[in-house]
Amino acid sequence: MIRQLSIRRPDDWHVHLREGEMLRAVLPAHATVYGRFVAMPNLSIPVTTRALARAYRAGIFVAMPDGVRAEPLIPCYLTEDTSVEELIAGHQAGDFFGAKFYPVGATTLSRAGVRDIRRLYPLFEVMQKHGVPLLMHGEVVDDDVDFYDRERVFVETSLSDLVRHFPELTMTMEHLTTKEAVDFVADHQHCSRLAGSITLHHLLLTCSDMLNNGLRADYFCYPLVKTASDRAAVRGAATSGRACYFLGTDSAPHLKSQKYCATAKAGIFTAPVSLPGYAAVFEAEGALENLEGFASIYGAEHYGLPVHEDQITLKKTPVQNLPSELSVDADAVRVFSTPTEWHIV
Ligand code: NCD
Ligand code: ZN
Repeated sequence: MIRQLSIRRPDDWHVHLREGEMLRAVLPAHATVYGRFVAMPNLSIPVTTRALARAYRAGIFVAMPDGVRAEPLIPCYLTEDTSVEELIAGHQAGDFFGAKFYPVGATTLSRAGVRDIRRLYPLFEVMQKHGVPLLMHGEVVDDDVDFYDRERVFVETSLSDLVRHFPELTMTMEHLTTKEAVDFVADHQHCSRLAGSITLHHLLLTCSDMLNNGLRADYFCYPLVKTASDRAAVRGAATSGRACYFLGTDSAPHLKSQKYCATAKAGIFTAPVSLPGYAAVFEAEGALENLEGFASIYGAEHYGLPVHEDQITLKKTPVQNLPSELSVDADAVRVFSTPTEWHIV
């Protein structure tokens, strides 16, 4: 039985770090593990301009633990008013890592998002030409579409249309949750530049975990966790060794005061347990040999970036007690709890 595993340093292609005290509290868990991380732009003031992206990057570096050399990548938050010039110039100058599409109202701080994705087609045309990746929160927000079908309907309608119109555009369908979405990504890996990222929590949870024995805010996130058969499809995809699937934790911290209340915020804070948690899933699926591709290689390849040369080592030790929460001002954020014998050494 494998008790120790060294892999190239991984990257996290989707994470929420927030700002201020929260950023200071959650950043070390990320920056000490992941060489690069895509810090999502859904801040209290969405990161829609180069100046805002530069300010956010500077804030992340201020919060970076001493001696840690991780690289934050910040996508431009797309609105219906995004300026093509600002986006392209910002991408070329390294201010923006691609552009993030949020359907308006789909998730936390998405009010400034986009009502109709087709309105962005002229922008996508230019992004395709200049090699700017499109990161997608792939759900439709429509009163006629059941909440649990938001991702499936996005795949059937918007995503099908996107791969037809923009076969050369680097696209990431983020946080895959359904069989239909993982199948679509695999089916289109050779006729488009589409790939999908996968969270730890969607590999572990189903809606029963969220709804059994009382409503569990800890398991509430967008896109919602789905059925056991969806989870099986997502687990199969992540551990398959296929290069069209890679790691994106979507670790999304919320203060306890905003999580354990009548209107719980969506988002699961997995960062401190994420890599050991993924290792446990890959081991359970008999696919530990595919962890390195998923965590450290396929994402970089998708975005045309070099892989890291240094390594990170995971060891199996009897379950240790990781901190169950991090203090933030007078409040705290609870860490997702998952049993794993893997620990980073
Ligand atoms: C994220 C957040 O809290 O910012 N929440 C979540 O449930 N994943 C936003 C997002 O990625 O949808
Ligand atoms: Zn997210």
